[in-house]
Amino acid sequence: MEDSESQVLNIVELLLTAHIYNGNDQLNENDLPPPIRKHYWNSKERKVGRPILVSEKSVDGIFEIPNGWSLVKTLPFVSFDEFGSRIDLTVFDLGAKWFAKQDSLSRIKQNPTLAFYYSQQDSIDVSYEKARQENKPIEMDREWIHSLIDEVAGEGEEAEDMLKLVAISAPEDVRESLGKLVLTQEQVEEVEKIAKAIQYREYLKEIELFEIGKLLFVGPPGTGKTSVARALSKELGMPFLEVRLSMITSQYLGETTKNIGKVFALAKRLNPCILFIDEFDYVAKTRLADEHGAIKRAVNMLLKSIDDISLVDDGVILIGATNHPRLLDSAAWRRFDKIVDFPMPDAFMRKEIFEKILARVTGTFDTQKLADMTDQCTGSDLRLILREAVLKALFEDRTDLSQNDLEEAVSDFSKRFELKMSAYENT
Ligand SMILES: Nc1ncnc2c1ncn2[C@@H]1O[C@H](COP(=O)(O)OP(=O)(O)OP(=O)(O)O)[C@@H](O)[C@H]1O
Ligand SMILES: [Mg+2]
Repeated sequence: MEDSESQVLNIVELLLTAHIYNGNDQLNENDLPPPIRKHYWNSKERKVGRPILVSEKSVDGIFEIPNGWSLVKTLPFVSFDEFGSRIDLTVFDLGAKWFAKQDSLSRIKQNPTLAFYYSQQDSIDVSYEKARQENKPIEMDREWIHSLIDEVAGEGEEAEDMLKLVAISAPEDVRESLGKLVLTQEQVEEVEKIAKAIQYREYLKEIELFEIGKLLFVGPPGTGKTSVARALSKELGMPFLEVRLSMITSQYLGETTKNIGKVFALAKRLNPCILFIDEFDYVAKTRLADEHGAIKRAVNMLLKSIDDISLVDDGVILIGATNHPRLLDSAAWRRFDKIVDFPMPDAFMRKEIFEKILARVTGTFDTQKLADMTDQCTGSDLRLILREAVLKALFEDRTDLSQNDLEEAVSDFSKRFELKMSAYENT
């Protein structure tokens, strides 16, 4: 719970922001701080319409302050309309001066609408451009993304069918982060290069270097391919679109081709974004096998769409992933300009992974020993080992772990691992 002083500042900031935004047509959604923008976002019209009106309900919706009026009623520049429970700014200048005298500088620096106004006043040293850079762009709001999806996907069943093919997350909803993953040197470099390519998109366009931004992640299950792709979306603040190739076969096939087209159209509109295509070997399989002609057509549509999309022109990073590189044919390979290897982690990486996943767990651990005991384990396996150890301790109502708990979980896991391996050998 925030103290009442900052609650009052929240409300006055909102009143001032609404007033300035309403009176200046040149300001747009990117001039509003995300909480305010999200509240007033009109998903049908896809904009924040004018005027923005402030009521007790909106104050509660944005800041979770239920009794807004009683907090500000002693200020000489506000009034209350009982019927609409609206809070109005009666004397703007007075309010603006009062606000500037409070502990509000950091708020002004992060709110482009306020910075727009105060940068024209001599008394305060703020830059509108800097505030714009500080403020998260609207493309990162899940509200913005979802209303765009509604627009591209169409209505009802038609939209549902398309959304079966693709799962979309706003970067603010992505849980994975690069800091929690242990990457190889090559992976770190590729991630940094992609970030640079986005930063220098205009330059790349100028020199006509288009062979960039299509990556294929290759490696065994559980080595972090999906996690790195998702973390990249969070890191770069770009929406994440995950295409589910296996859904291609489950749809009425005539529609699939159309839906693939829609997915790519959506990616271009979301620009910039990450388009992730898991199980890419599926593409090669359908081309090899004597598949239904319609599936082949759908897959060909997919390959053609991949050719037609680019980071430089469309702001779309394409990431494919596969566990079975040997299944890929040359048609699939040549669509990617970089192959990124996701190897089984070595002992050094396993130690680091243990350190990261144990960071919040109470107890002292010999991570080197654990790493040495877990040859042949992936990052995903190490998480499963931790899971077993934690659940076993919880069973005894313990929330602290010992080295022994983990070692036991490792040996239980090895038994399971052997079972899995022998199952593979039999198939
Ligand atoms: N290098 C790593 N560092 C930290 N955690 C890892 C690493 N590799 C895998 N993990 C963890 O293992 C889990 C599974 O990883 P992920 O789903 O990204 O693997 P994947 O390569 O996509 O597997 P699949 O091929 O089966 O789709 C995730 O929770 C992830 O955090
Ligand atoms: Mg995966």
